[in-house]
Amino acid sequence: MDKIDVVAASPLYPPVMEALSATYAVHHLYQARDRATFLAPLKNTVRGIATFSGKVDASLMAALPRLEIVASMSIGLDHIDLEAAKARGIRVTNTPDVLTDDVADLAIGLMIAVARCLMVADRFVREGGWLKGPLPLQSKLGGTTLGVLGMGRIGQAIARRAVAMGMTVVYHNPRPKSDLPYRFYPDLVAMAADVEYLVVACPGGAATRHLVSARVIEALGPKGTVINIARGSVIDQAAMVLALAARKLAGAGLDVFEDEPRVPEALTKLDSVVLTPHVGSATQATRLAMGRLMLDNLAAQFAGKPLLTPAV
Ligand code: DGY
Repeated sequence: MDKIDVVAASPLYPPVMEALSATYAVHHLYQARDRATFLAPLKNTVRGIATFSGKVDASLMAALPRLEIVASMSIGLDHIDLEAAKARGIRVTNTPDVLTDDVADLAIGLMIAVARCLMVADRFVREGGWLKGPLPLQSKLGGTTLGVLGMGRIGQAIARRAVAMGMTVVYHNPRPKSDLPYRFYPDLVAMAADVEYLVVACPGGAATRHLVSARVIEALGPKGTVINIARGSVIDQAAMVLALAARKLAGAGLDVFEDEPRVPEALTKLDSVVLTPHVGSATQATRLAMGRLMLDNLAAQFAGKPLLTPAV
């Protein structure tokens, strides 16, 4: 039987791409010099798109009229035009749950790295600073308050870890969650004023753009540290950089940025900041699990079975 045609909109973790290619005829859009020329002969055959962070916009969907499903190997869906998919009856799937622990671990890791100055301490040892005297004292995490922005699955996993470390957890979310034991703040500025750490764990996209505004950053103030493992778009990055440089914000642990992979140079100069290159889910085991789930969603769609993790 002929293999079903699928477009790969971005490179995938190699074992996942191998598994995808074993089952489908994969067309590597991200390698195309000219998108229109690449897509023209596929117009009447492609039924699926597999992606990681590669953009799937309305024009790509329009160029593939037989498209049934966009299966993304990610929890975030801000790279996909969900409205266009809905309008065309194209299903969209993501990969929730399998990455929750890794992303929560990284959020806590960044928080510890900033509070305990791990990057500075590492450099201090390597460069011989220790031979000349001790490292200045750092900040204790236990006993402080963590505000979680976005109390979904990842926010809750971060909260559980923070409680185990002796922190008090509060949260801001579109709606309170009555089954959670944490205080809910309807107002993000008010929450920022009351916490030492603010962790961003909400979805990206237009609805949350610059939710962490200059006002929120000001409320967090010189006692406050921001951790972002969600999307760079949620924070007003320019306002955050200015506040950090002026020490009007104590620190930041950042895995995501507004214009990845570009990072403002000012951030790279600050010892109060720890930077990672969008690696929240980047472990081999989790990327395999994400890939498996994406493949299972594609298989379910083409077998006429219910999708495992539908987003649209
Ligand atoms: C996700 O799953 O959305 C991660 O950020 C990887 O892109």
